[in-house]
Amino acid sequence: MPRARIIGTGSALPERILTNHDLERTLDTNDEWITTRTGIKQRRIAAEGQFTSTFAVEASRRALAMAGVDAAELDLIVLGTVTPDFPFPATACIVQHEIGAVRAAAFDLSAACSGFVYGLSIADKYIRMGMARKALVIGAEVLSRVVDWTDRNTCILFGDGAGAAIVAANTDDDNGILSTHIFSNGSFWNTLYQPGCGSRNPAGNDRTIEDRLFFIKMDGNDVFKHAVRGMDEAASAALAANGMSAADISLFIPHQANRRIIDATSKRLGLSEDKVFVNLHNYGNTSAASIPIALDEANRANRIKKGDLVLLDAFGGGFTYGSALMRW
Ligand code: COA
Repeated sequence: MPRARIIGTGSALPERILTNHDLERTLDTNDEWITTRTGIKQRRIAAEGQFTSTFAVEASRRALAMAGVDAAELDLIVLGTVTPDFPFPATACIVQHEIGAVRAAAFDLSAACSGFVYGLSIADKYIRMGMARKALVIGAEVLSRVVDWTDRNTCILFGDGAGAAIVAANTDDDNGILSTHIFSNGSFWNTLYQPGCGSRNPAGNDRTIEDRLFFIKMDGNDVFKHAVRGMDEAASAALAANGMSAADISLFIPHQANRRIIDATSKRLGLSEDKVFVNLHNYGNTSAASIPIALDEANRANRIKKGDLVLLDAFGGGFTYGSALMRW
């Protein structure tokens, strides 16, 4: 059975930067509070006329270029997002059309911030089973359109952007994805969610509009606790399944939600700071896009070399969580 290996990465971000100091002008908050509680200094915000597909397409083109793969070679496109261009059709279909992936099956995947790791898990299985040879996995979000910019508890956290990876069957050596582990705990479905614009509270409903249900709602403290536990569980499952320890890891790329969550998870796993990739000070929490953007930055900065052991670790609404361990 061939291993699935990431052979190209790409990312795309809006140009507009919104700093903590910018937020001080419209909200009862300050740079010091946001920095110490979250580690975030700024985030990117999509301009009018830019959508989730805008960034997904750009990130995908960059990943294809790095991999040296023509879009027509793709068998599968999986796009993790909670902010699709439309409820339907899938944003993945728009990406398929824009990049010319004429042979690919394309669908969106709703696993919130774990969307990219979930997508990678699917691509890995298709490739290992021989049902696909080349897949495109994307995490893309425009969260700025679903956050309440008057709610200081949530709006300071999120940003927009996309990341993508080309996953292909590796016939050269044994490198590639060693394992993926995905988990859910649906008993917390309403701890971090967007109550409106689905079938329960349709977009045009009076209640949806009056109670502003079209915005993200979150119990931050509850999410925080479970995020640390869930990420520890997912990462530990990956290490245990492969008979490895934290000492074997070359680079840990956790979901970029909060610096304190990342630090607490790394500490539990026994990972030193130099092995942990962090870029959330620049982008905030971009949900499904956070891990592939970080992976692409680390890859392009030569933080990952052939043979390195890379561990991805995600947690998000649902709750969903998961890990992917790979030999680069
Ligand atoms: N600026 C200033 N003060 C703020 C603030 C802001 N942006 N947001 C909240 N506060 C206030 C609160 O109102 C509260 O005031 P009070 O004590 O007078 O009621 C105080 O700061 C402390 O709030 P608390 O919620 O206890 O802070 P915290 O240390 O738990 O940090 C989060 C809040 C949201 C940063 C933190 O809980 C968190 O990051 N949770 C995880 C969220 C997340 O990552 N979600 C996505 C996961 S995929």
